[in-house]
Amino acid sequence: MEKYLVTSALPYANGPIHFGHIAGAYLPADIFNRFLRQNGKEAVYICGTDEHGVAITINAEKEGVPFKQYVDNYHRVIKEFFDKLNIRFDHFSRTTTPEHYALSQEFFLALHGKGYIKSAAEPQFYCAACGRFLADRYVSGACPKCGADNARGDECTKCGEWLDPSRIVSPACKVCGRKPEIRQATQYFIDLEAFAPQLKDWLESKKNWKPNVRNKALSLIEEGLVKRAITRDLSWGVPVPLEEAKGKVLYVWFEAPIGYISATMEWARLNGKPESWKDWWFDKETKLVHFIGKDNIIFHTIMWPAMLMGQDKPYIIPENVPGNEFYNLEGRQFSKSEGWYIDTADFFSKYGVDALRYAIASNAPETSDSQFTWEDFQARNNELADGLGNLVNRCFSFIKKNFGGRIPAMAADLKPEDKALLDGFSAVFAEAGNSYYSYKVRQAVSQAMALAHAANKYFNDTAPWTLRKTDLARCGTVLNIASRAIINIAILLYPVIPDTAFKILAKAGLSPDGKAPQFKPYDGDLNDITLGADDSLLLAKITDDQIKLEVEKLRPKN
Ligand code: MF3
Ligand code: ZN
Repeated sequence: MEKYLVTSALPYANGPIHFGHIAGAYLPADIFNRFLRQNGKEAVYICGTDEHGVAITINAEKEGVPFKQYVDNYHRVIKEFFDKLNIRFDHFSRTTTPEHYALSQEFFLALHGKGYIKSAAEPQFYCAACGRFLADRYVSGACPKCGADNARGDECTKCGEWLDPSRIVSPACKVCGRKPEIRQATQYFIDLEAFAPQLKDWLESKKNWKPNVRNKALSLIEEGLVKRAITRDLSWGVPVPLEEAKGKVLYVWFEAPIGYISATMEWARLNGKPESWKDWWFDKETKLVHFIGKDNIIFHTIMWPAMLMGQDKPYIIPENVPGNEFYNLEGRQFSKSEGWYIDTADFFSKYGVDALRYAIASNAPETSDSQFTWEDFQARNNELADGLGNLVNRCFSFIKKNFGGRIPAMAADLKPEDKALLDGFSAVFAEAGNSYYSYKVRQAVSQAMALAHAANKYFNDTAPWTLRKTDLARCGTVLNIASRAIINIAILLYPVIPDTAFKILAKAGLSPDGKAPQFKPYDGDLNDITLGADDSLLLAKITDDQIKLEVEKLRPKN
């Protein structure tokens, strides 16, 4: 049976995550996963923290905290943040589990055994003052590719290139600032070029991928895939499982994606079916979908698939890699250290989770960079409050006041405007469904909101407050149809604003049991359903004064 294994890029356990991350790899995946369940698909949604790598050890050393304690803390902080945002993983693991160490070593050995991984002595930067080889971010300098001066070892923050740390121009030790010397040292390299034909065939067959992801991957193959060092001389990481490689660990980008599998293994074990992870990873029917930010494209479209292809076991390879662009804050990248960020605890004490989910989803960086601005947040929040919240409130309080809280019956003879609204439901579900399936959340949201606008217009034009005095039966019909529209909008927007959708369904007197409502026009009978007792305001508007205060709080440190 067709099934989905959905993942979000494993966030580094290296500090709190921000809305920029959420917009790239997490909210779109959560929306997709919720949508799959609404459609009765079998799906498992996996994530966890990426707990190795030099970005982590540098910061832990700066704070003087042991590595394990450092990642334990951020694992917890990040998990809580996802819970808060209603990002509902089936399992949120980490890359420091026993499963992960064992599997990463198995992956290495399989590739090594087939000759895809070989050792070689290469020149590397060594800091004599600190007494260590400068792996990855321990060295900073200029990017050999674009010349930007803020390259960090294995990655240029400007052009996004995956660098070999030994190629950095004008290198300096990140810890002491001294110029490192060059020493020969042995590392292990993966021969990616050996997989180029297979990768190319696979990528070329993926005609439905986002063009930016597919083109980037194909052009990397076109440029030629160089051998990449996949080991490092560090004390924190997964040990290289070879006698002669004592003291070396696997490069974080080699081992982290294996976390998708080891997390599934842990999930299976915790569910009491330790072998069931194979039903996903070894079954050709599984559609593996990796949600990532664009800076991770090379790892998920070249390195990771090659690693999977080079195993002896029948691993599946990705079905799709929906990579998103960047989501900035008022024109520049979110950065806590530069004072350019939003305090999330403060944010959620004032604004709802769904207001944020809606604002990000309706302006998601799907095909180009987009940004959070306070003004846009206010506008989108208020659009939801006006377009949906107000409709729910008007319709249901009218029914409470004039029909004893029971949804009145729909008459048999319908007018053209009734039919137009009713007949439009299945088309909206078909369109929005297609959009969700093809990772076009912005479009899905606007299609659902178009129904909200049509329903508002219907409510205004039919004017039930007048009909109440002139034609009570007709008034009932209108309210019945408007209620049905409201329920459908809630179902359509459930992937984006799940809490609000449940609240609406409860207000409508349907008792949602916490399960994803089926993605189709509601076809139950509404006649005489008693509305829920909850009269609380669904969505609050945000005032100009509130926004002004927020904007004033944003002060860059440089
Ligand atoms: N930690 C990486 C980042 O935040 C993402 C790792 S994704 C994985 O950029 F595939 F390696 F797990
Ligand atoms: Zn140094």
